[in-house]
Amino acid sequence: MAASIHGQWSSRWAFILAATGSAVGLGNIWRFPYMVGENGGGAFVLVYLVCVAVIGIPIMMAEVLLGRRGRMSPIQTMGALARIEGTSPSWSLIGWMGMLAGFLILSYYSVIAGWTVAYVFRSASGGLDLITKDGAGAMFGALVSDPEKLLAWHTIFMVMTVIVSARGVQHGLEKAVRFLMPALFILLLVLVGYAMNAGDFARGVEFMFHADFSKITAGAVLDAMGQAFFSLSLGMGAIMMYGSYLPQDSSISTTTATIALADTAVAVLAGLAIFPIVFAFGLEVNAGPSLIFQTLPIAFGQMPGGAFFGTLFFVLLVFAAWTSAISLLEPAVAWLVEKRGWTRIMAAAWAGIVAWALGIVTLLSFSSWDFSFHFFGSQKSNGLFTIFEILTNNIMLPLGGILIAVFAGWKMASAHTREELAIGNDFGYALWVTLTRFVAPALVFLIFLNLFGVLDWLLG
Ligand code: PHE
Repeated sequence: MAASIHGQWSSRWAFILAATGSAVGLGNIWRFPYMVGENGGGAFVLVYLVCVAVIGIPIMMAEVLLGRRGRMSPIQTMGALARIEGTSPSWSLIGWMGMLAGFLILSYYSVIAGWTVAYVFRSASGGLDLITKDGAGAMFGALVSDPEKLLAWHTIFMVMTVIVSARGVQHGLEKAVRFLMPALFILLLVLVGYAMNAGDFARGVEFMFHADFSKITAGAVLDAMGQAFFSLSLGMGAIMMYGSYLPQDSSISTTTATIALADTAVAVLAGLAIFPIVFAFGLEVNAGPSLIFQTLPIAFGQMPGGAFFGTLFFVLLVFAAWTSAISLLEPAVAWLVEKRGWTRIMAAAWAGIVAWALGIVTLLSFSSWDFSFHFFGSQKSNGLFTIFEILTNNIMLPLGGILIAVFAGWKMASAHTREELAIGNDFGYALWVTLTRFVAPALVFLIFLNLFGVLDWLLG
């Protein structure tokens, strides 16, 4: 099919970088470590890796494939493909649900990204120098309990997102990720080096890679799957959107594998940088969303040149969050341009305003609206923020993923998927078909069943 009206990546590499920019973000560096911490370590990491391999990669291929075949926003793409494949127009529901999930995720994503912007300044002004465990905790506590400050940082981050989004896909975005992503990777390696020297590295590694399956509950498996969808940006149309800008002659399977590998590597490195510090300084592994803000400042505060490295790190983390946030907005922006005929600037501004307003809910849930509730026997706090997180990552994204897999695997003619994927060997294609038709949807479904306790009931 001809290129999208919104533009096209200049090359396969531009797509890989942009999609990696979408995938690598707060999910890898902020969320992955605290999920691992909350869910007991190694066994969770293992379940996570399995989810990436057998659910994430085939669904990512399906999303890119659908996007490139439709060449429009997810809502329109799904509608058009359903028509071509002679099936129900309600498949465009995938696009609608994805757009909703995108708004919900972006609303809290921007608040957390605001924290990282705030830490750029704390680090640059020497505020982290020789900071103690208690000092780091107090600094974080003061930030999140101050709604006005949070609102200011949240607003700044959202404005940054809208500006790049308004400028279109190729300008700005493509150029930015080209050198920011490698820089973030190198800096993470520096941090892991620090953790090896100053942290309790052996214990950190043991915690992350020693699988103790007694720690795995139904809730942990669901968390691992949700984290895989979130981290790979799957199930809400962001990757479908980016796939719609992919040149026709680029291979979907190799690009996808590269993106998933890079995303996983960054998450694992983040864990290796953080847990040794957690253990060396007697911090709590299950600190939740505050984990990196309580550990990394200690590391930067102690290492030589820490103010410099700390500032650089938080700047890069802001960029990583930025490239993800842009992709969260993109399906809605493209849809508004296609369907309503708005300019990109108008579309980006309005989408940004909606997400910004929703973000205020998250923001208050860290201070005035904080309450705790039960989820699978575990006590969760930060009420509405956590409810948004569970609703999007553990429910909406996997549900979107199942629907994408079922559509690509069952509803599309295999001649079409085969042509679009253009995998050279028959085995590769057969493997994708098997994973997409049976394995991925069945696993997501089973994990869902567990969510509602049906398995426990059947077996018990
Ligand atoms: N993958 C991003 C991260 O890890 C978040 C994201 C989710 C981006 C869904 C787009 C779509 O930070």
